[in-house]
Amino acid sequence: MRVGVLTGGGDCPGLNAVIRAIVRKGIDRYGHAIVGFRDGWRGPLENAYTELTIESTRGILPRGGTILGSSRTNPFKRDGGAEQIRENLRGLHLDGLIAIGGEDTLGAACKLSEMGINVVGVPKTIDNDLGATDLTFGFDTAVQVASDAIDRLHTTAESHHRIMIVEVMGRHAGWIALHSGLAGGADVILIPERPFDIEEVVRLIQRRHARGRYFSIVVAAEGATPKAGTLEVMSQGTDEFGHERLGGIGYLLEREIGERTGFDSRATVLGHIQRGGTPTAFDRVLATRLGAAAIDAVSEGKWGQMAALRSTRIEMVPLGEAVAELKTVPPEEYEAAEAFFG
Ligand code: F6P
Repeated sequence: MRVGVLTGGGDCPGLNAVIRAIVRKGIDRYGHAIVGFRDGWRGPLENAYTELTIESTRGILPRGGTILGSSRTNPFKRDGGAEQIRENLRGLHLDGLIAIGGEDTLGAACKLSEMGINVVGVPKTIDNDLGATDLTFGFDTAVQVASDAIDRLHTTAESHHRIMIVEVMGRHAGWIALHSGLAGGADVILIPERPFDIEEVVRLIQRRHARGRYFSIVVAAEGATPKAGTLEVMSQGTDEFGHERLGGIGYLLEREIGERTGFDSRATVLGHIQRGGTPTAFDRVLATRLGAAAIDAVSEGKWGQMAALRSTRIEMVPLGEAVAELKTVPPEEYEAAEAFFG
């Protein structure tokens, strides 16, 4: 068989481990040829590709980013985009395509699959917000990076008696904030699923001070929002999938907490540091298992499906199930964390 592979959306530690698994198992076990498309959906749209071999993918397992490049190109935003992809896949004599991505990349994969194009999906996102899979690779690495940063901020917060606000990624789901906040012993965690009341945040910090703890750590997901009508958050435009560019809640909290408490406050925006660099061992293993399962599925002609982690097993699930609904933090998990606030 000839099989295409692409990586779309925000990059994520572990992407190269998936590519390597697909290439190694695809060539060694099945005798397939693997074609790597450049920059997400731009590759099959514009016929930008490279043949992948065992030799060309050596040494990439621990490497962050993606050797194929990535983009947020939406094929359904281009006139005749889907037909162009069908034609280009045919021109390259490809039997099908493996799309490694998050909600947007897999959403497009799902639509293309409904149009009769052979696609298999692999879930990826540091945000861990994809449905139908218990976890996505990249999340463990992002949480590790964020909790290491929180540990470092802790010591300087304590020395200077400051309130440190740490803004982490997560536009619709607060998984990174919740897990890194719990791991780092944060005093307040703010997530998009639970609009916050700034007065309550201030109350928790003041209670800590009254108890003799003169510093606090507030972890806020970038998508955390104040309760309606309380504080205004600036928008910074949208991408091709219509998602707002976020980033700014940390500085807003720095100002508001500083002004309302009179305590010295500082914001740190971790941003893309959470997405870069080498994946943790856990993410390398998960990514490798998903890549191997995806090439198995291709070889068995299981199109329109996605490899998913279910409990400890890798299973194939319909692509539609994966993109039907975002996996957000359930109220009870947030409430369990609240026991440690303040
Ligand atoms: O999709 C993952 C993600 O890391 C989000 O948490 C974040 O909002 C977004 O990507 C940032 O995207 P970009 O790199 O395009 O600014």
